[in-house]
Amino acid sequence: MKSLNRLRRSLIATAVAAGAMALPFAASAQAPIVIKFSHVVAEQTPKGQGAMKFKELAEKKFPGRVQVQVFPSSQLFGDAKELEALLLGDVQFIAPSLSKFDRYTKKIQVYDLPFLFDNIEAVDRFQSGPQGQALLSAMTNRGLLGLGYWHNGMKQMSTNKDKLTRPEDVKGLKFRIQASDVLEAQFRGLSANPQKMAFAEVYQALQTGVVDGQENTWSNIYSQKFHEVQKTITETNHGVIDYMVVTNVKWWNGLPADIRKGLTEAMTEATAHSNKLALDINLADRKKIADTGKAKIQTLSKDDVAAWRKTMEPVWKKFEADIGRDLIDAALKSNK
Ligand code: LMR
Repeated sequence: MKSLNRLRRSLIATAVAAGAMALPFAASAQAPIVIKFSHVVAEQTPKGQGAMKFKELAEKKFPGRVQVQVFPSSQLFGDAKELEALLLGDVQFIAPSLSKFDRYTKKIQVYDLPFLFDNIEAVDRFQSGPQGQALLSAMTNRGLLGLGYWHNGMKQMSTNKDKLTRPEDVKGLKFRIQASDVLEAQFRGLSANPQKMAFAEVYQALQTGVVDGQENTWSNIYSQKFHEVQKTITETNHGVIDYMVVTNVKWWNGLPADIRKGLTEAMTEATAHSNKLALDINLADRKKIADTGKAKIQTLSKDDVAAWRKTMEPVWKKFEADIGRDLIDAALKSNK
């Protein structure tokens, strides 16, 4: 009887030990796929809302199998590092502004040409067309795959000066720009002094006078409080800030097929959600800025717009060969 008990105890001990050993394997087989989604803007912006929607949809589709961790406001990686982090596998999704990809494909510079798109609806038509869609996979040879476009909106210009209606008004001023050669040429063409700078550093640079002005959407201006450190914001609508949600090609292709399919569906739905909100968020933020009375909002006459267009026009010629005339023509067509 004693030896039977001993045998039973030793069998139990062996089973427990085996179970303990098996646990890590069992746990790792069931460990969720973690998607770190890093971005640089605030949660209440169109991109912030899109990322949260994607998390909700992806986790609902794959309970326990997929976990999406969203890191807004450059908490995990800022502009300078997020593309590198994606390629190194430190994050799985990012959604940089289209201006930040020119190191990966010159064609994407089409989006930065000043006064190319009349409005965000035209941008949407171009993105949905064959040329816009082809750009989503233009960087796969560099390890980046575009899963969709997310809208923010049209850019407005702001400075710490009283007057900002004519191109001459920015002569000699220092402007923060995104890391884009087209935007650099745009401000050089205006005889201003552009400085490439990460988004997270802009508020302080404006506040301390390191730069005099910047260009951005209403939602970014409001959520970053740029209006509190600028005197004038002019509704120039001279360009667009939109995003490409990108993932690491190798990581993406290594996912189980059903997960890839489900995440693609979640992305399509999150894209529709965020794009539907974008215009309203920007209009509401324009009003909120006006209500604070902190920065004066100016609008342009037709004659003013013509003067800005004319001064910025040479940028098109400078980048046409890199971008390709076909892309520029397709973008122009989307205005109609
Ligand atoms: C900027 O850097 O100004 C913006 O592109 C930031 C963003 O992601 O909207």
